[in-house]
Amino acid sequence: MQTSWIPFIPESASTVSGKVDALYFYLSGVTVFFTLLISGVLAFFVIKYRRRSPFEIPRPIAGSHKLETIWSVIPFIIAMSMFAWGAQIYFQNARSPKNANEIYVVGKQWMWKIQHSTGQREINELHVPVGRKIKLIMTSEDTIHDFFIPAFRIKADVLPGRYTTQWFEATKPGTHHLFCAEYCGMNHSGMIGSVIVMQPTEFDNWLSGNSSQQSPAVAGQQLFQSLGCVSCHGANGEGGRGPELAGLFGRKVFLTNGQTLTADEGYIRESIENPQAKVVNGFNPIMPTFQGQVTPEQLIQIISFIKSLQVSNPQSATATPAVAVPKAGPKTAPGATPAPNRQ
Ligand code: CUA
Repeated sequence: MQTSWIPFIPESASTVSGKVDALYFYLSGVTVFFTLLISGVLAFFVIKYRRRSPFEIPRPIAGSHKLETIWSVIPFIIAMSMFAWGAQIYFQNARSPKNANEIYVVGKQWMWKIQHSTGQREINELHVPVGRKIKLIMTSEDTIHDFFIPAFRIKADVLPGRYTTQWFEATKPGTHHLFCAEYCGMNHSGMIGSVIVMQPTEFDNWLSGNSSQQSPAVAGQQLFQSLGCVSCHGANGEGGRGPELAGLFGRKVFLTNGQTLTADEGYIRESIENPQAKVVNGFNPIMPTFQGQVTPEQLIQIISFIKSLQVSNPQSATATPAVAVPKAGPKTAPGATPAPNRQ
């Protein structure tokens, strides 16, 4: 691992790391400048206005609006420049690009389990291609962890029962440190790994080198069948007694309580584990909870199956079209009243 020309600064290896560094140097520069200015002026005044005789009485000062305005407005402008610059980088980092490759990360005491969308799994290692946007979708099996890649200047908490995301685009091949940055128990300090950035062709070879593994979407489809989700949502997510799932991901959802939300990983997880929390408008709260029946990894698989159900492109509607049911198929389970809950 190479180090930067400045001691203790990790290598800069992603598209945002340079921007984060620039902001960091600006903050450090402002801090150093004012520290020197204030201590210098302080030392100067201590000497210049020292008490020269025991009977000396200073001249009364009435105050100066001009001076007060200057020392209020200039710091305000400096503080706002930090805010605006920081917020701009924050928003750029917080919003994952839509065309990013997705990689699932599960933290547990004390390891990082990683799965690529093709099914390739790895532990405490993350292989990524250079020059491609990568979105990490992260959750925890136990306590709070934090996924931190210093060379990319990205870091986000990994929480049980929730999905957090972060994204990056590596700019050069190499190997970088991966840390857990949240104290998570005895072996927290050992919860480390490597990020291996490869040339895209090399990465594609690496990825296809293990094609026998099942992709999360295919595993999710099997769970969708075996858990009985199909009886209400249709084998291919076409809906019926439950809301339609095809094309759900990223779509606006209207709820019975009048609220609107955009379907994301967190919403789908909540709807599986606590289905009564947010009921889709037009449906009754009849879905049972699956809390405790699916592991965090299985949840990821079901979520990636639901994501793969796109209405716009029938070819990608399911990862294994062989078991797909035509959209014109029966909307309800045999014997059920036809769509009684729909309004
Ligand atoms: Cu996981 Cu610290």
